[in-house]
Amino acid sequence: MVMPNPAPARGNVYTHATYAHIIGWGMAVPERVMTNDDLSAIVETDNEFIFQRTGIRERRIASDKESTATLALKAAQNALNIADILPIELDLIIVATSTPEYVFPSTASIVQNWLGATKAGAFDMSAACSGFVYALDMAAQAIRTRSITTALVIGAETMSRILDWSDRSTCILFGDGAGAVVLRASSTPGGVLSTILRSDGSGWDSLCVPGIGSRDLTGGGIEPNGHKPFRMYMDGPEVFRFATRVVSESIQQAVSNAGLKLDDIKLIVPHQANVRIIQSSARALKIDESRFMVNLDKYGNTSAASIPIALVEAVQQGRLKENDYTAFVGFGGGLAWGATVVKWGSPKLKVEDRSLLKGQRRQLSYTFAGVRTRWRKLVKTVTDLFERLRPRTGRMKRLRERVSRL
Ligand code: UT7
Repeated sequence: MVMPNPAPARGNVYTHATYAHIIGWGMAVPERVMTNDDLSAIVETDNEFIFQRTGIRERRIASDKESTATLALKAAQNALNIADILPIELDLIIVATSTPEYVFPSTASIVQNWLGATKAGAFDMSAACSGFVYALDMAAQAIRTRSITTALVIGAETMSRILDWSDRSTCILFGDGAGAVVLRASSTPGGVLSTILRSDGSGWDSLCVPGIGSRDLTGGGIEPNGHKPFRMYMDGPEVFRFATRVVSESIQQAVSNAGLKLDDIKLIVPHQANVRIIQSSARALKIDESRFMVNLDKYGNTSAASIPIALVEAVQQGRLKENDYTAFVGFGGGLAWGATVVKWGSPKLKVEDRSLLKGQRRQLSYTFAGVRTRWRKLVKTVTDLFERLRPRTGRMKRLRERVSRL
């Protein structure tokens, strides 16, 4: 699927167009660091092999108290701080993840509740390591068509929970973390300019996690192709070949759809799977490796979270400035891939939008969200009790309805 270029090609001016700008960004990673040496105590491997074949030195691993939703929440709060907006201003929350909190409800709904984003719709995006690029495009499209004004797009994963810790060809690669961006409508040209999304499902079994899908629950056992349930299987060399092919192709297409040339792109933020994939893509595109953001040495492959985490660090390192063009490229399970081109730099918010005490009001929103959830549970318990003691009365029903609207 090739998206029509919504942005004016250079030289053209569209009137009354709406653009989706990234106005906030944030990340969160667990504190626990697992080095390559730590891994050599778990499987037969060593630092030299892992670093030479992948570029990874260490990764972060979630504690028992952390989950995809808790990491997503922290990244989201950091992004809202940079954007300096309130949770109630959000119209849409998308969490791109392959390690959701539950099959349902969506992790996005959990985050929506914890933020107190009471006016937002929420859903999860399942497109494996390309999930963030897919989700960013869905949110940007909703903004451009004026269906919404403000969106929160999160990539969040706890890959450590689905790794086969006895498989040295996969457990060395992945880590946990989350990254988020806030998108907002503006009449200033820029923001998300073009996106290309692609899939080749014939490669579905090169990278998969069998578990509780409808294929797995037919009663005939839950191990398609002999893979372990709830554990990631990957045909590494096959995925490597696929990745090196699609990264350069999709970047070129997205850049051309934006009416730009590769030379216009200041920084490419790729999915952080393997530094050799990035090096081979740089060779294919005939550009210097330094134009790719790389931070997989610190975090490994965090699947849908890797692009937003790398983006946040690129911004923190000053590698993106106002009016720079950047490209994000994701690839992985599906097999699916996608690339997008963004003009960096957020239009200045109107002065009245930057009202006083927004930081305190955001904190209040998070606190009130917790109180609200507990209050609703309490009312449900009490009304359930009364209903059991007395036959259902209209008054009790009305009370519950009123409380559920709070
Ligand atoms: O996020 C989704 C996208 N994922 C990716 O893009 C991952 C793509 N794939 C890769 O990055 C690479 O294929 C890997 C890093 C997974 C593997 O690298 P490789 O150079 O393709 O290695 P290989 O699988 O061909 O294995 C080479 C050798 C094998 O030994 P023999 O059969 O040649 O004796 C493996 O058993 O390396 C061995 N090996 C290891 N040795 C020490 C595999 N894993 C390890 C290990 N430590 N952890």
